[in-house]
Amino acid sequence: MKKITAEPYRIKVVEPIKMSTREEREQWIRDAGYNVFGLKAEQVYIDLLTDSGTSAMSDNQWAGLMLGDESYAGCRNFYNLEATVQDIFGFKYVLPTHQGRGAENIMTQIFIKPGTYVLGNMHFDSTRGHIKLKGGIPVDLVIDEGLDPQSQHPFKGNINVEKMESFIKEHGPDKISFVLITVTCNNNGGQPVSMVNIKSTCEVASKYNIPVMFDAARFAENCYFIRTREKGYENKSIKEIAREMFSYGDGCVMSSKKDGLVNIGGLFCTKHKEIYEQAIQLSIVYEGFPTYGGQAGRDMEALSRGLQEVIQEPYLADRIGQVQYLGQKLKDRNVPIVEPVGGHGVYVDAKRFLPNIPQSQFPGQAIVVALYINSGVRCVELGTSAFAEKDEKTGEMIYPDLELVRLAIPRRVYTNRHMDVVAEGLADIYDRRHELKGFKIVYEAPVLRHFTARFEPLK
Ligand code: F0G
Repeated sequence: MKKITAEPYRIKVVEPIKMSTREEREQWIRDAGYNVFGLKAEQVYIDLLTDSGTSAMSDNQWAGLMLGDESYAGCRNFYNLEATVQDIFGFKYVLPTHQGRGAENIMTQIFIKPGTYVLGNMHFDSTRGHIKLKGGIPVDLVIDEGLDPQSQHPFKGNINVEKMESFIKEHGPDKISFVLITVTCNNNGGQPVSMVNIKSTCEVASKYNIPVMFDAARFAENCYFIRTREKGYENKSIKEIAREMFSYGDGCVMSSKKDGLVNIGGLFCTKHKEIYEQAIQLSIVYEGFPTYGGQAGRDMEALSRGLQEVIQEPYLADRIGQVQYLGQKLKDRNVPIVEPVGGHGVYVDAKRFLPNIPQSQFPGQAIVVALYINSGVRCVELGTSAFAEKDEKTGEMIYPDLELVRLAIPRRVYTNRHMDVVAEGLADIYDRRHELKGFKIVYEAPVLRHFTARFEPLK
């Protein structure tokens, strides 16, 4: 019989959150143009907008803040962070950055020549933005199962390696600036990439002399899935798995707001001295002197300690367990979700939830708004509002394959009772889904419209 376990921590400090009335929430969301990004955080009861920068730090991390050395150059916290990253990631050269996209800026400036392609499983939107700004062309090559919310494939973040090789042959290796493997793959549900896939992706890339970088924002969660789902890794430690995974590539960028268990910060790492030297030049201009790179000494101390905590097996079992707990609750009530449940949240399949609302009427947005009004829970649409694009030639709308709603779970912040509230609220909405109406957009910015768009409900 499996023994019941509880969270591997107890609570020392609490942060009160406020419940509101349905009438208040109806008013607030109307004022926000039916866009949850326009809400004040105080108007939210349970905030599942993102798992980024929302983690709760441990007592050990808070204690580390008091040991912050705020020297401009050579502060001790940098050396602690550097030693931790070298130990877990195995990369010799470590540069702190202000957050993930700071590192992406450095990476894309180093590798991209205008008109070249950046291949990957699925590029995150800030990465895509940086690639395009440097004249590169982002190409997503995730396996077909990764785009099917019902496929039970255990590694739906895998790259289609054959497709990647044909792409390289068709366009020529000179036209590929680098390969980026995002672990876990955020865009399709926090889906992991297997070690076998990482290895063969890197083998193919190296055959053509193409560098491989990792987007390591959720590296520990990916390693946990390798440990629990991939043959041969069940008895390896998370650190051993991380070391092997990163050993196949040339470096990584990381938003430490996720698996760094801190609220801000990022990293650029590499094994190559030449790349590091180029990165330093860019870091000085965009981030700061290389021993702080946009972070306070105290923040680097908290990050160094967070990275040591995030690879602990009991932490990861609890973390992934909580995400699976919410997924199972929703499945028990027949709410259509992306399966298997990924690492940092549960993704609802809006196409199956609201088959009668066409993508042009924002079905994902309809679910997001209904859940907020019903339960005070904030989540985010990752569908038409976030990803639909106008065809530059025909002016026609191209809708994304996946119409998802993400319930991202902050690390160590909410209890399973909170998850019960979320599941109950969403399942109630599913039971009365025929009452939901679509939306139309009444204001949109030319790029990244979902952050500031305003909507109106359709009659
Ligand atoms: N890469 C991935 C895979 C991400 O998920 C994010 C951020 C970034 C890079 C950029 O990092 O925010 O520190 O600059 N994802 C957040 C999210 C915003 O909600 O998924 P950043």
